[in-house]
Amino acid sequence: MKILVIGSGGREHALVWKIAQSKKVEKIYCAPGNAGIAQIAECISIKAEDLAGLLSFAQQEKIDLTVVGPEVPLTLGIVDLFNEHGLKIFGPSRLAAEIEGSKAFAKDLMYKYQIPTAAYGVFTESVSAKEFLDDIGLPCVVKADGLAAGKGVLICENRSEAEKAIEEILCDNKFGTAGNRCVIEEFLNGQEVSMLAFTDGETIVPMVSAQDHKRIFDNDQGLNTGGMGAYSPAPIYTANIHQQVIREVFEKTVSAMKAEGRVFKGVLYAGLMLTDKGPKVLEFNARFGDPETQVVLPRLCSDLVDIMEAVIEGNLNEELVKWRDEAAVCVVLASGGYPETAEKGKVIQGLEIAAQNALVFHAGTKMDKGNILTDGGRVVGISALGNDIKSAIDKAYQAVDKVYFENMHFRKDIGQKALTAQELEG
Ligand code: AMP
Ligand code: GLY
Repeated sequence: MKILVIGSGGREHALVWKIAQSKKVEKIYCAPGNAGIAQIAECISIKAEDLAGLLSFAQQEKIDLTVVGPEVPLTLGIVDLFNEHGLKIFGPSRLAAEIEGSKAFAKDLMYKYQIPTAAYGVFTESVSAKEFLDDIGLPCVVKADGLAAGKGVLICENRSEAEKAIEEILCDNKFGTAGNRCVIEEFLNGQEVSMLAFTDGETIVPMVSAQDHKRIFDNDQGLNTGGMGAYSPAPIYTANIHQQVIREVFEKTVSAMKAEGRVFKGVLYAGLMLTDKGPKVLEFNARFGDPETQVVLPRLCSDLVDIMEAVIEGNLNEELVKWRDEAAVCVVLASGGYPETAEKGKVIQGLEIAAQNALVFHAGTKMDKGNILTDGGRVVGISALGNDIKSAIDKAYQAVDKVYFENMHFRKDIGQKALTAQELEG
């Protein structure tokens, strides 16, 4: 089979790495890819948002299966477009991807079908939005409705912060059309877990749990980022909670989407808050998470292409999806200035040595005259498997120690929360 993977981050490198292990695959292309992906696939310089360009490439090369990494092409309807032209593609349709593309849509769906989530209101004008602050209480969370690359969520401690957030979204158009509506939510306390599942629109097969580290600095301090590291499994996510999440979140959501005429096929990702009143949904994504994919896929024993074909054909079953017991940890190495800006063009050293004992997934990198250079905020993710989280942490950081570029920075505490949770349990 010839496969086309769309995207250019650590998630896509992990996807290409896993797909390359499939016996069915003879050739992988990636658009646009990065320097690490280029070592195992042929990179094509077509942007992930260029639907027409991707379609004509897939037609020309007779691609057998296209796999979509990021959310933007999904919400633009790439799956519908490819299907109209008789091309096989893994991911949800435009209507189904709205579960990520519009937070108002996702919240209204959860309300209608009684899927556990924070109390909320949706507003198009600031006066009524501000009045709602009296009802929802403080702190609260103000979100732009549409896609904002993770930056459209503002946690507000007091009223003036909340009013400012509302004005930025609804009046100043800080997030463009993504801010035509804003969602205001009750603030939830607890630990976050990412649960991803494969679904063919009927059958749901969950992946293993993971936890992201969204803040830039240790101990969850500083600004939000795309994700500074992850581990899997999340020990606080017990078997009991899992049963609840499957029943109350995944089964209800997949059947709700079907009832709404938006059958969801692909990867459904639930960002969960484990509150003292049970697990609640913070958000849905319509795709693999990043960096979660960099710890989840190394734990997958099965052939990913078999699973993706079963999802598309509507015959997904549990037998197709087997996991390793080992734990996995991923540490993201970021550029100077990230997340506000990102230095680029720094020579990266030590990647080959690091790759001897760990998985090195490139994100913002490019090749230049024989050197691998930094080319974005998140540069590489270093993942390691271990018998438990502790040994996976040690292995990942030993490999991190081998890598250097100017002003490189990374969190030193990836996975520590899992160790604390284990101690509390044990
Ligand atoms: P979202 O993109 O909606 O998942 O929001 C991004 C991040 O903001 C989440 O991962 C949480 O850390 C935080 N967040 C979002 N909604 C809430 C909420 N209702 N209560 C507390 N934290 C939240
Ligand atoms: N790790 C968060 C995301 O993929 O959206």
